[in-house]
Amino acid sequence: MARRKKIYEGKAKTLFEGPEPGTLVQYFKDDATAFNAEKRDVIDGKGVLNNRLSEFFMTGLANIGVPTHFIKRLNMREQLIKSVEIVPLEVIVRNFAAGSFSKRMGVEEGTPMPRPIVEFSYKDDALGDPMVPEEYIIAFGWASQQDLDDIISLALRVNDYLSGVLYGVGIKLVDFKIEIGRIYEGDFPRLIVADEISPDSCRLWDIETGRKLDKDVFRQDLGDLADAYTEVAKRLGVMPSNVTHTPKPTLIN
Ligand SMILES: Nc1ncnc2c1ncn2[C@@H]1O[C@H](COP(=O)(O)OP(=O)(O)OP(=O)(O)O)[C@@H](O)[C@H]1O
Ligand SMILES: [Mg+2]
Repeated sequence: MARRKKIYEGKAKTLFEGPEPGTLVQYFKDDATAFNAEKRDVIDGKGVLNNRLSEFFMTGLANIGVPTHFIKRLNMREQLIKSVEIVPLEVIVRNFAAGSFSKRMGVEEGTPMPRPIVEFSYKDDALGDPMVPEEYIIAFGWASQQDLDDIISLALRVNDYLSGVLYGVGIKLVDFKIEIGRIYEGDFPRLIVADEISPDSCRLWDIETGRKLDKDVFRQDLGDLADAYTEVAKRLGVMPSNVTHTPKPTLIN
């Protein structure tokens, strides 16, 4: 097969030109980064797991009527997606306090929110993705008021879907981040869920034990990240059958 043209290389994924106009191929790498890429490592098998998990969640969303960029999985690490214009925001939904919210507000991790909180960060690595109010988003033209209303309602639908599916396998959805893309159908713009939904972009806690099953395992050095993601994939029944995650060999003196 002809080599595909690389469009963009990010920290966790690479985008290639797709086979048809309006499509892209999204390749999931094994690279893990945290704290705005100050901490980085390569986690064997992470890309394979995230490709599968994002496929699983995006397919489920499409089945309940939430539009996404996902078209089909191509192989272990690649999926075909619709090319969109990314709204330069990280859309964050919080069900329980954690991470930057806990730090900023002095609220203990795990404290339930009175209702799901939707907040926005401006996607800019150089600035460290600062949190922004709706006022900035509209004034600087990143999205209109109508777009924002649509984005919030999409985010809450994604939240309800993910919370329910994960609850069914004993996992609490603490919070997550999505990206939204603008796509033109004729002259009519539509907002759809883009990027990825995976344990890289969600906080997932085992309901019984509180064990963390997401990227905090890497951020906080809590153990083997691929083991945690494998646990999520197994519970959801999306563990790729021909991949076994073998832990790195340990030196014996
Ligand atoms: N359907 C899509 N069409 C176009 N771009 C997309 C689509 N889905 C995701 N993207 C973009 O592709 C990139 C995915 O790569 P990755 O997540 O590794 O980037 P990143 O290093 O996190 O950088 P960024 O700050 O841009 O997200 C992101 O920039 C994301 O916004
Ligand atoms: Mg990203």
